[in-house]
This record gives sequence, structure tokens and C-alpha cells, in this order.
Amino acid sequence: MRPEVTAFFDEATNTVSYVVKDPSGSACAIIDSVLDFDYASGRTDTRSADAVIDHVRDNKLDVQWLLETHVHADHLSAAPYIQQRVGGKIGIGDRIKIVQDTFGKVFNEGTEFQRDGSQFDRLFEEGDSIMIGQMRGDVLHTPGHTPACLTYVIGDAAFVGDTLFMPDFGTARCDFPGGSSEVLFNSIQKILALPDETRIFVCHDYKAPGRDEYAWETTVAAQKAGNIHVGAGKDRDSFVKMRDARDAQLAMPRLIIPSLQVNMRAGQMPPADEQGDVFLKVPVNKL
Ligand SMILES: [Fe+2]
Repeated sequence: MRPEVTAFFDEATNTVSYVVKDPSGSACAIIDSVLDFDYASGRTDTRSADAVIDHVRDNKLDVQWLLETHVHADHLSAAPYIQQRVGGKIGIGDRIKIVQDTFGKVFNEGTEFQRDGSQFDRLFEEGDSIMIGQMRGDVLHTPGHTPACLTYVIGDAAFVGDTLFMPDFGTARCDFPGGSSEVLFNSIQKILALPDETRIFVCHDYKAPGRDEYAWETTVAAQKAGNIHVGAGKDRDSFVKMRDARDAQLAMPRLIIPSLQVNMRAGQMPPADEQGDVFLKVPVNKL
């Protein structure tokens, strides 16, 4: 089974969203959509999401799922905006409850912020499967970057979120609350145990030294042979040392503060006040 995959790259956040279509019909899933956000003005824009919606309408696709690989820290999800226009159920990993608990505290949310994942239509665990038309998707729990990270394996294509990046860029950071480089290493082994020819679609690309073009598609074989962090048999201890040292040098993603508050609510803004105005918080000295 070889799904038809269309990628949408958002250069502002280096995020790749995917439309994954059943080759035998019109059913599709949308993975990791983006709501544009200009932090300086506090304004949202739907350019990126509208491009995906146009693709869906132009090709008369039937959107069955809006899948999130995890609570992203670098872009806002457009899942509810897309759902309202073209349908689909919003799904994420069951461990979202841990992420909601952690960031509910960071953002001093009140009891009206539910920490049970109920903002999402479906919570997935390791071993769950989903149907997209005639196409089966299998869920792998691949934590490390966050506790709730999932990989969706749909036919010969694996959507790995923030675990592996392109082989010349390596792997995702593990220093957010609840992250762990040891845990990520183990999760990556699960992905590398898929058949060699499995297509891997990554969630971000930043180019890499010596590469001028963005890229987001690779294979299990290419990752095993050449991933600069985990390929060619690199062992767990050296990975953990390298990853932790590197993470200590990284700045927080530009949109982490708005992204977490929106994405832990399945892409919804916090509730509006009596005037209908919406506000995001900035926790001082917390992240
Ligand atoms: Fe992420």
C-alpha cells in the first residue's frame, strides 16, 4: 500500500504538513497543519491552512482525520480551522494528558482547562490502528521529544513528527519538559526497525550545512546508513551525550509560548472574555 503524499512547507516555521490520500479512493488524512501567527502583532493568518483546504477541495478529497504527531512548540495547529471547513476527526497521542498537566501548570490554567485530552476527538495509544478509506494506519508511540509523540505508519509511509529529521540534520531536541534523549533513542530504534524501503516524512526541515534546498522525504535505509546522530550504528551513550550537550545550547523556539497554549487545546485559542476578546499569556522565567 503506497499512499499518495502531498507536502506543504511553511518556511516561517520550517514545518511540513502532509495530505495523505488513499490511492484507491478520495479518503485522506491531514497531518500537522499550520495556523500562521505573527508574534509581534499577535495576529493569526490562514494562508497555510487555506492552501491545504484548496488542495482538498480541488481534488474532491474526503478528509477523515486531522492527525497531530504531538503538541508542537514551534507552530500553531490549524486543525480546528480545517475541521470546520472540510471535516475530519482530530487525533493525537493519549499521553497528551501528561503534556496538558505539565503546561497547564506552566501557564497557570484554571480548572476549566481540562487535562484529560477531551479537546481532541480521538486519543491514540501504541498499537492502535486507524482507517483512511481502505488504507490502514498504525500508531507507534515514539516519545523523547515530548512524552506524547506519535509516529503514524500508513502503508509504506511513516510520518515521524519530531523524532528523526533528514539524515544530514539528525534528530529532534529533547529538552522540553518531559523530554528525554534516552527515550528518544529508543523510539528511533522502533522507527528504524520498519522495513528499509519505508518512506519517512519528517515534520521539519532547516536545510543542513552544504544543502541549499529544503527536503522532507527520506527512507529507513537512508536514516540507518547516514543519519548524523543515530545512523551507522551510533550507540545510545554517545547519542545521549551529544543530544544533551547540543540541547543545552539551543534557544527556545520563537513561537513556543503561543504554540503550547493553543496546541494543548487541540488548536483552539483560550476561551474569550466577556467582550469576546482572546488573550495568550507569557509566563515570566518559567520556560
Ligand atoms: Fe515539536
